[in-house]
Amino acid sequence: DDTKGGVKGLIDGGITKLPQIFIHPHDSLKKIPKNSNFIFPLIDLQNININNKEIVKQIQEASETWGFFQVINHGIPVPVLDEMLRGTRRFHEQDIDVRKPYYSRDVARKVMYNCNFELFSEKSFAADWRDSLYSVMAPDPAKPEELPETCREIIIEYSNHVMKLGYTLVELFSKGLGLKPNHLKEMGCAEGLGILCNYYPKCPQPELALGSSRHADSDFFTVLLQDDIGGLQVLHKNQWVDVPPIHGALIINIGDILQLISNDKYKSVDHRVLANKIGPRISVASFFSTGLLESSRIYGPIEELLSKDNPPKYRATTLKDFFEYSSKKGFDNNSNLSHYK
Ligand code: SIN
Ligand code: FE2
Repeated sequence: DDTKGGVKGLIDGGITKLPQIFIHPHDSLKKIPKNSNFIFPLIDLQNININNKEIVKQIQEASETWGFFQVINHGIPVPVLDEMLRGTRRFHEQDIDVRKPYYSRDVARKVMYNCNFELFSEKSFAADWRDSLYSVMAPDPAKPEELPETCREIIIEYSNHVMKLGYTLVELFSKGLGLKPNHLKEMGCAEGLGILCNYYPKCPQPELALGSSRHADSDFFTVLLQDDIGGLQVLHKNQWVDVPPIHGALIINIGDILQLISNDKYKSVDHRVLANKIGPRISVASFFSTGLLESSRIYGPIEELLSKDNPPKYRATTLKDFFEYSSKKGFDNNSNLSHYK
């Protein structure tokens, strides 16, 4: 039952040494060097319009080479972002008795609060130093009364904005692939939304732990909001690159399914979050995909992109199968996608 206090509960309990389950194997965190010379892509969406060739090109290049980029002037008011971060913090800092009723691993529930340490198994190296609140927002959203009161209004407001941004992004992604602007939208790529509100408590021995273990997202794409603490790193040319916190910006990354349907044109790239002596760090990840989990719709490389010189690199799959496979598999240095080659 003490897992219900989350990782935060351990800190509140006064631990000064990291429990064994959070400790990564010796040196595994340092195996890949960090490179501070790369400049993480930053794209200004100020004059956003799908006919803006410059923006389409920047997004296309970043999606192909980094699988990640940061956007400013994306249309979501900065006070909404700030309140979303504050709402997340409010939820996680409530009394344990208020958080407890949301504690669940039942995926049929639309709102779930948990941490992963009781899930720790041989499929992962170590448990993540973080707690999360998850909510399904589309196409069958949680009812407002199912959302925790402390952050209910802002979750609804923020996710409405993110849905709109999602539609814009899939048009830009479509254009960048040389498809008609509504191609990905018609495939349902921006239809489902789940949001994950993360709380990374300060960590007593950050050099031994990770806030989020190395992984690639398995959705179409993700819109990520982070506060000013930092710690998110992206694997680029086999080196870790920091994603610099920029107030008011959002980070966009390509997920596995978009890599699959784009036949490897866009890349779903590994990333991780460092643990930190200071905290909490707050982030909110909005995943585009969830609503289609039960759907029987088949996703494979998009026909229009294929040719004799560009044969399909993957077999088609339902999202349900894909997510089941990727959540069972865990991380083993082998992308989820290789199973669909
Ligand atoms: C994640 O990708 O799992 C979380 C990213 C973040 O918290 O910045
Ligand atoms: Fe992620």
